[in-house]
Amino acid sequence: MSRPTVRKLAPYVPGKTIEEVQRVLGLERIIKLASNENPLGSSPKAMAALRHIDRLHLYLDDAYPELRERLAAPYGLHASNVVLGHGSNELVNIACETLLEAGDEAVMATPSFSLYKLAAVLQGAAVIEVPLREGVHDLDAMLEAVTERTKLLFICDPNNPTGTALPPDAWRSFLARVPERVTVLVDQAYREYMGAGTFEAADIVRERQNTIVLRTMSKVYGLASLRFGYGFADVELAGWLNRVRLPFNISRPAALGAAGALDDEEFVAMSLASNLAGKAFMYKQIETLGLQAYPTEANFYAVSVPVSATRAYEDLLARGIIVRSGDALGMPGRLRITIGSPEENAALADALEQLLPAWKAAA
Ligand SMILES: Cc1ncc(COP(=O)(O)O)c(C=O)c1O
Repeated sequence: MSRPTVRKLAPYVPGKTIEEVQRVLGLERIIKLASNENPLGSSPKAMAALRHIDRLHLYLDDAYPELRERLAAPYGLHASNVVLGHGSNELVNIACETLLEAGDEAVMATPSFSLYKLAAVLQGAAVIEVPLREGVHDLDAMLEAVTERTKLLFICDPNNPTGTALPPDAWRSFLARVPERVTVLVDQAYREYMGAGTFEAADIVRERQNTIVLRTMSKVYGLASLRFGYGFADVELAGWLNRVRLPFNISRPAALGAAGALDDEEFVAMSLASNLAGKAFMYKQIETLGLQAYPTEANFYAVSVPVSATRAYEDLLARGIIVRSGDALGMPGRLRITIGSPEENAALADALEQLLPAWKAAA
């Protein structure tokens, strides 16, 4: 048995794992470019901190005030502005639990990160999906979709699965027009990858009350399995979010690893340099092959293919390369591909070059 609302939920479908593909295809070498993970691995300082974990038998600090202060300080915010989550995924859920109930509306882009819809529907809210324009949030159309019932408006910046970010001007005019009573949730799982001159969403929190900005340690810090995300909101809203949050939702290993990672500027710099080089290489290949990718500000890109996304995905999978099919992400005709290591990118570029003639012939 389950609530009728639960029966409406489509299951979350993650990318295939390396082990799964190895088992099914019997291939030795698998390249996974499906889940936007860091090809350099994990922050060594986080790993070092994780080697010194003790007292796991105790319920220790649940509030982590020092860690929250450290996360907040670069943005002129304080510990009281921060809510911690078991990954930023959990914070999406906490935000929906805090703000939405049956009869309310949540506005979001489509395609965007699938959890927003899942979390909003679970609260019995109606979801209003606004199509992207050229892979970018259509802010005018999103504002038009706002009604008296709208409680929450999601913006994924950079957007998953397209990788696109909103220009600062678009942000400013959007913020001037969105009603103050509507909470704007800006999911910035890929914030660190964004280039210079991009908009700093955390700044909105100081100026606009009903705003939540989400970040994660899963991507640039390479700690996806540790499960540590954080959010910024004004003190009152952060207080409500913290009430809804389960006690001890942040495991002590996650907090210690996150604290270690925050010291690891070197690893972040290396990861960003690797991503930038991989992006330049892949965009050149994409152009040479006559394909098109949306401009990305993240560690992945959405590239067009001349056959169905499912066919392209399956052909790459048969060669041991796991990507995400746009058919599964509301983005037909495109693949979502993580920027990998130089070897992984080169192997992908080779595979695309080899597959392209057959794809064109089939188109
Ligand atoms: C846009 C976006 N938000 C949130 C998440 C979830 O990240 P976390 O590992 O912090 O839960 C992801 C993960 O892929 C993502 O792409």
